[in-house]
Amino acid sequence: MFAVYASEPNPSDPLASLVVGERDTPTPPPGWVSVSVRAASLNMHDLWTLRGVGIKPEQFPMILGCDGAGVLEDGTEVVLHSVIGDPDWGGDETLDPKRTLLTEKHQGTFAETVVVPRRNALPKPAGLTFAEAACMGTAWLTAYRMLFVKSGLRPGQTILVQGASGGVATALIQLGVAAGFRVWATGRSEEKRALAKQLGAHEAFESGARLPERVDGVFETVGKATWSHSMKSLKPGGVVVISGATTGDASAAELQRLFFLQLRVVGSTMGTREELGDLLKFCDLAGVRPQIGAELPFEQAAEGLKAMVDGDVAGKIVLSRNAG
Ligand SMILES: NC(=O)c1ccc[n+]([C@@H]2O[C@H](COP(=O)([O-])OP(=O)(O)OC[C@H]3O[C@@H](n4cnc5c(N)ncnc54)[C@H](OP(=O)(O)O)[C@@H]3O)[C@@H](O)[C@H]2O)c1
Repeated sequence: MFAVYASEPNPSDPLASLVVGERDTPTPPPGWVSVSVRAASLNMHDLWTLRGVGIKPEQFPMILGCDGAGVLEDGTEVVLHSVIGDPDWGGDETLDPKRTLLTEKHQGTFAETVVVPRRNALPKPAGLTFAEAACMGTAWLTAYRMLFVKSGLRPGQTILVQGASGGVATALIQLGVAAGFRVWATGRSEEKRALAKQLGAHEAFESGARLPERVDGVFETVGKATWSHSMKSLKPGGVVVISGATTGDASAAELQRLFFLQLRVVGSTMGTREELGDLLKFCDLAGVRPQIGAELPFEQAAEGLKAMVDGDVAGKIVLSRNAG
């Protein structure tokens, strides 16, 4: 079958390991289902995989794609939940030490067919297109959990989203606005700040700018480049929720500020199947649809991944069977 995969880990030139080619069609093991993929979205995670981060060398070649939507053999339209847990684990699967994301151990969604455990294929709301549904399982689920499960914040409070144009950042802006938060964002260019405002952010600032007032919560995926600003932007008792560190580890943890102002730092990763179900319902009920900056045919995956390397994104990049 057609597939887009990483041939080997390549820390310095990730795109050099990208192959658009053929892989064997998978057969679902007992309890798993076969999904005909209609759309899949790109995540920074795909670049980490190409670099060999978060995946063992013996797992290559690995089909990329930890987000997707498609059709089961019986015609049911589904959204994929990427967190594959140990079937014996009873609680929150994001806390299961044996859990993996699609593309860490099991093959991903940038292919004609992907196999997943039956519980990882959720019904797709009819109101979402395949391209929109393909944004939900990773970036949007991560944003949903950060905002509604982990932050402890309430609608009406002010939040700062570091980054304006990324997959997780645009999801945070759109979900925050829909839920009634006052949403501020930072963006590295005028264009990115304009996108944040277009998505409903109440204000958009240059990265690192002094804010008009301190905020109740900051939402981080950038890491080193924005961490000090995040900590300095919080009110006493405020919270930073972090799910990524694209620019690396922070060199100053801001410990004095952390204890003196009684700040909270909360880590967050992906979300549960139940949270994905709730996210889908929320989008359906509130009419929220993900900001898709580009929709490309699967054959042009390299173009989309290069845009992510260059920071040239405007929301989610989706690979779709209908594009082109
Ligand atoms: N823990 C989890 O479960 C989970 C899930 C999803 C993603 N993540 C992580 O979250 C991060 C973002 O993922 P993504 O898929 O949203 O990536 P993306 O779409 O490529 O977005 C990158 C974001 O980072 C910002 N950024 C990058 N470099 C920056 C810099 N030097 N200064 C300021 N901002 C910078 C961009 O802001 P501008 O708009 O200003 O360019 C943009 O918002 C990645 O590290 C990813 O691994 C984690």
